[in-house]
Amino acid sequence: KMCIPFPNAAFCLCSSVKMRVDLLQLFVILLLCGSGGDSAQLSDCKPNVERSKSSGKSLTTDRKLVCSNMELHQVLPPDSIPNRTLTLILNNNKIQELRNGSFFGLSTLEKLDLRNNMISRIEPGAFLGLPSLKRLDLSNNSIGCLNVDIFKGLTNLIRLNLSGNIFSSLAQGTFDSLTSLKSLDFQTPYLLCDCNLLWLLRWIKDRNIAVKNTKCSYPQSLQGQFITSIRPELLTCDAPLELPSFQLTPSQRQVVFQGDSLPFQCQASFVAEDMQVLWYQNGRMVKPDAAQGIFIEKRMVQNCSLIASALTISNIQPGFTGNWECRVWTSRGNTTRTVHIVVLESSAKYCAPERVSNNKGEFRSGHF
Ligand SMILES: *[C@@H]1O[C@H](CO)[C@@H](O)[C@H](O)[C@H]1NC(C)=O
Ligand SMILES: *[C@@H]1O[C@H](CO)[C@@H](O)[C@H](O)[C@H]1NC(C)=O
Ligand SMILES: *[C@@H]1O[C@H](CO)[C@@H](O)[C@H](O)[C@H]1NC(C)=O
Ligand SMILES: *[C@@H]1O[C@H](CO)[C@@H](O)[C@H](O)[C@H]1NC(C)=O
Ligand SMILES: *[C@@H]1O[C@H](CO)[C@@H](O)[C@H](O)[C@H]1NC(C)=O
Ligand SMILES: *[C@@H]1O[C@H](CO)[C@@H](O)[C@H](O)[C@H]1NC(C)=O
Repeated sequence: KMCIPFPNAAFCLCSSVKMRVDLLQLFVILLLCGSGGDSAQLSDCKPNVERSKSSGKSLTTDRKLVCSNMELHQVLPPDSIPNRTLTLILNNNKIQELRNGSFFGLSTLEKLDLRNNMISRIEPGAFLGLPSLKRLDLSNNSIGCLNVDIFKGLTNLIRLNLSGNIFSSLAQGTFDSLTSLKSLDFQTPYLLCDCNLLWLLRWIKDRNIAVKNTKCSYPQSLQGQFITSIRPELLTCDAPLELPSFQLTPSQRQVVFQGDSLPFQCQASFVAEDMQVLWYQNGRMVKPDAAQGIFIEKRMVQNCSLIASALTISNIQPGFTGNWECRVWTSRGNTTRTVHIVVLESSAKYCAPERVSNNKGEFRSGHF
């Protein structure tokens, strides 16, 4: 990545390695923008460099750094950013992770825009060293996991936007570091309004936080209702269990050949501490059995918001025909996803015609 700070520090032009700024273009930009005086029409320089409000001469005016749409995969090193920057725009890039101290030293920064990236991991202390930050936009990323240590140091943050992420719940105390917060948006397509959000409702009331746009996505009975309009009695964890996300792959009927290997994946929102993912064939629980070639791998609590399990049957035998089921078990109830598997004996010279025409799976006549 390359970052070119301009002499008058009014703004800076950033580019990823992939995006070449050719020399002529650069020359023109320098001519237009580096010449001091009132900043020229900065918006003319490059489509993604926004117009700065200020004249670069004054030390007290707005300083804005726009690095949108630049295919950035990482945050720029904080020491490459002028430390008097007030606004840092990093939206519409491909940033996946925020490391501890990602913005360290930007002590005057007031606004940080990270929306429309691919952030799934934020380390504790990612926002350390931003004592002046007032607005933080993390919307439209893939954040499944938040906790109090992530927001450490943001004591002056006033507005936080977390909407469009993948979490279905928020852990108690997540916002405890944000002692100045006044406005919060946390709408997600997975937001599950249950007993686990009671603390948040109370906290919003106590702290008099303005909650913008945020509606429940689950359970169905509360879908579309503003979270702040819901009576606390309705935020329950009683049955029936509704999972904001629950997927079994393959999801459609499969036809496989004896001796093949078949991997199943099951992934569900993690909504209760006692949650388990179990596998069944025709109603009977499947246990790992190396001798039979049955392997089960469990990855507990990915992202704080997901639980996953993978079942692999190597060397499929005719006896494995039937309904294969992933069952999510909790004390709040169970839910299941099922897929039908048909095993064709490899010695079979022919198949019953209706069997062949019925399949939507991976059947290929070339095998016969
Ligand atoms: C900004 O950086 C310069 C040198 O790089 C340093 O002298 C100055 O103290 C820094 N200012 C702040 C507010 O950190
Ligand atoms: C969210 O980001 C993706 C790219 O990461 C983009 O395609 C999509 O339009 C964005 N959605 C919104 C609502 O901005
Ligand atoms: C993050 O970095 C700061 C200093 O840069 C350090 O004091 C702190 O212990 C680190 N935190 C973690 C969780 O690594
Ligand atoms: C939060 O971000 C989303 C998506 O970027 C946007 O639609 C919404 O208006 C923002 N909320 C606030 C309060 O600005
Ligand atoms: C979060 O979950 C998504 C979807 O399963 C996955 O792609 C990503 O790697 C996970 N991130 C972490 C940090 O576990
Ligand atoms: C969940 O499944 C177990 C068997 O795995 C069964 O004993 C139990 O009654 C089920 N609970 C609910 C609420 O359906």
